[in-house]
Amino acid sequence: MREGADRYGAGTSSVRFICGTFDVHRELEDRIADFLETEAAITFTSCWNANGGLFAPLLDEQDALISDELNHASIIDGIRLCKAQRHIYKHMDMDSLRDALENSQAARHRLVMTDGVFSMEGEIAPLPEIRELCDQYDAIMTVDDSHATGVLGDTGRGTPEHFGMHGEIDIITSTLGKALGGMAGGLVASSREVIEYLVQRSRTQLFTNAIPPHSAAGALAAIDHLEAHPELVTRLRENTAYFREKLTALGYSPIEGDTPIVPVIVGETADAIALSTKLLDEGVFVIGFGFPVVPHGSARIRAQISAAHTREHLDRALGALDRVGRELGIL
Ligand SMILES: Cc1ncc(COP(=O)(O)O)c(C=O)c1O
Repeated sequence: MREGADRYGAGTSSVRFICGTFDVHRELEDRIADFLETEAAITFTSCWNANGGLFAPLLDEQDALISDELNHASIIDGIRLCKAQRHIYKHMDMDSLRDALENSQAARHRLVMTDGVFSMEGEIAPLPEIRELCDQYDAIMTVDDSHATGVLGDTGRGTPEHFGMHGEIDIITSTLGKALGGMAGGLVASSREVIEYLVQRSRTQLFTNAIPPHSAAGALAAIDHLEAHPELVTRLRENTAYFREKLTALGYSPIEGDTPIVPVIVGETADAIALSTKLLDEGVFVIGFGFPVVPHGSARIRAQISAAHTREHLDRALGALDRVGRELGIL
C-alpha cells in the first residue's frame, strides 16, 4: 500500500474512463480474474457499488431477476435500480427457486442472485443445486462471495472452490474490504463480454472515482499473500472448527455451519447486547445484533474467527463466554 501511495499518489482525481485508470487497476483486475478463474474482472470502489451497478446494465423490463429473500442489502438496492421483473424466493429453498424460475419462463433472460455465504447466519448457499436449476431453466447464475473470497475453499477462492465448481458461476461479485486486505473495493468477475459491457454501462463505476491506487496495490498484495500462504486458510478452518466445538461443549448452540461466522441466537435484543457488553468488559469483542438487522426474537451475538487467532486467544474468549453466559443465565 505504501509503495502504491508513493508511486501513484493519494487518488485518481478522475473517474476510470476519463483519466482515472492507472496500471495498478488493470493489474488488479487481471489478477482477480486469474484468482477467481474467470475471463475478466472489473473493480468498483466497494462491493456495495458492484452490486448496485450490476443488474441495470444487463437486464430490463423484459427480463427477470430472481433473488434469495435474505440477500445482502446492497443486492436489494441493486435490484431496486433495475427495471427487470422481480421474483424473491424463500431463503435457500430450492422448491421456491424452482417456482420462481417456472413463473419467469416468459421473460427474455432470467438472472438468479444469491449470497455465497449469508452474513448473519454464516450459511453457505447450495450452489450445486442452484446451478442445476439455472441450467434446467436457462438462467444466469450470480453469486456475491463477499464472505467467502479469501475464506472458503482450500486456497481461499470462495464458494465455487468449496464446492469444486471452478468456472461454473456465470457472474461473481465480491469485496476487497474483508478477507482480501480489509481496505476498500469491490469487484465483478465474469466473461469478457459481461465485463466489457459493465465497463461501458455500469453507472456506479462510470460516474465515480476509481479505487484509490494504494488500496488497489494493497488488494494486489493481499491476493499475492493469500496465494503464497494457503496455510492461512487451513488455519482459519481449524480455528473455526475448534471454536465451534468448544462453544457447543460449553452449552451454547451456534447456528451450524463451516464458515468462520459463528452466530449464537439468544432471542431478545437486550440479552444479545448485554452479552456482548459483558464480553467486551472481559476483552472479547463479539457484537450483538437485534432487530431490524435480524428478525424479531432472533437477536444474536456473532463471533468472527480469524486465521490470526491463536489457541490462547480462542481459549480466552471461550473462558469469557463461559463465565458471562452463566452470569446472565444464558447457559
Ligand atoms: C454479502 C455482502 N455483499 C456486499 C457487501 C458490501 O461490501 P463493501 O463493504 O465492499 O461495500 C457486504 C458488506 O458487508 C456483504 O456482506
